[in-house]
Amino acid sequence: GEKWVLMKTAQTPTNIAVIKYWGKRDETLILPVNDSISVTLDPAHLCTTTTVAVSPAFQQDRMWLNGKEMSLSGGRYQNCLREIRKRAREVEDKERGIKIEKKDWEKLHLHIASYNNFPTAAGLASSAAGFACLVYRTNGFGFDAVFALAKLMNVSEDESQLSAISRQGSGSACRSLFGGFVKWIMGKEDDGSDSLAVQLVDEKHWEDLFIIIAVVSSRQKETSSTSGMRESVETSSLLQHRAKEVVPKRTIQMEEAIQNRDFASFAKLACADSNQFHAVCLDTLPPIFYMNDTSHRQVLIYICWFLLGDVGEKNMYKTKEVLIEMVKSWLWDIVVLGSIPVKSRDMNLWRTTSQKSVIEVAYTFDAGPNAVLIARDRKAAAQLIQRLLFYFPPKSDTDLDSYLLGDKTILKD
Ligand code: PMV
Repeated sequence: GEKWVLMKTAQTPTNIAVIKYWGKRDETLILPVNDSISVTLDPAHLCTTTTVAVSPAFQQDRMWLNGKEMSLSGGRYQNCLREIRKRAREVEDKERGIKIEKKDWEKLHLHIASYNNFPTAAGLASSAAGFACLVYRTNGFGFDAVFALAKLMNVSEDESQLSAISRQGSGSACRSLFGGFVKWIMGKEDDGSDSLAVQLVDEKHWEDLFIIIAVVSSRQKETSSTSGMRESVETSSLLQHRAKEVVPKRTIQMEEAIQNRDFASFAKLACADSNQFHAVCLDTLPPIFYMNDTSHRQVLIYICWFLLGDVGEKNMYKTKEVLIEMVKSWLWDIVVLGSIPVKSRDMNLWRTTSQKSVIEVAYTFDAGPNAVLIARDRKAAAQLIQRLLFYFPPKSDTDLDSYLLGDKTILKD
């Protein structure tokens, strides 16, 4: 037979939702029950690279993730492959004397190989980063794969239409189409034609933000987002309330906060939305636990910091003692800060203190225990790393790396 192979490669950054997508109104087309908003990470730090190849020598469609072969039998992959094949056009490589006609794509088989440039950590690697979903979310087809296939097959569709195809592989993947902040509009139509990703602002708009991922577990998570969402849609009344009453308003507020670079509002909305997503998971029968004890401890540390505000360098040691006591006791009894007894359960005090202090960091948790922390700027990011290192001392250099997957120069400042 013929010996030639044609290849194309595409890369997709990962995205982290600040207004979560949780629940489908149509499982086949992947249409969500609410809008969602995400921030796209720098592909140099977190992304998936997929190479696709076609050759008359290939006997069947096959796929590998990080060198390990995965099954392509799921409906999602088949849907994506079918949609792409339908749009395939003639391809010619004159130099090598290869010509694939439109009709040939039906018979030719594909090999798909995908690599992550980040630790394959549960939940951290949202299926948004393409093939990560094959491990963590059990099914899905990332935008990188769709994009590479489209390049290989000379598909003429624009990016927005390609995003709609990749949405049928994995919902959150469609938001990786753009940089900056992206909204996935749920749409109204039954055929999904108006369910697509739009860019709210580009990556230049809010350049000061730093995203830090605290990896607490690299174990594969137990409930895939597909079955988790299905169970939540079927059993959680909180999900219905969230989709109808909460997210529509919150999305507008979040868009405003992003437009105005209003970090305090942004942080409150992002944290609240993460909390509600995990509350929906708990409201599911049987309940789904994505966050673990370490995740809860991180939230507690965050709250302590928020409550106490920026205490300045010289009070740092004392503050650390106070904070660690609070964290250790797991209680909100009485915290003594300086000479003022502070009853931390007191909501009035909470309000006055939080009004005075500046919110520096937002947290959000996806379908896994790892905290994604969004810092206002480099200074806040450096402080945050110091705190994380204090509460979760690394055991080795490799551990240390996992505190900061991206820009390691932050700590040097
Ligand atoms: O795209 P999926 O099926 O992996 O679902 C993603 C769900 C969350 O990550 C929890 C939320 C989101 O909007 O990304």
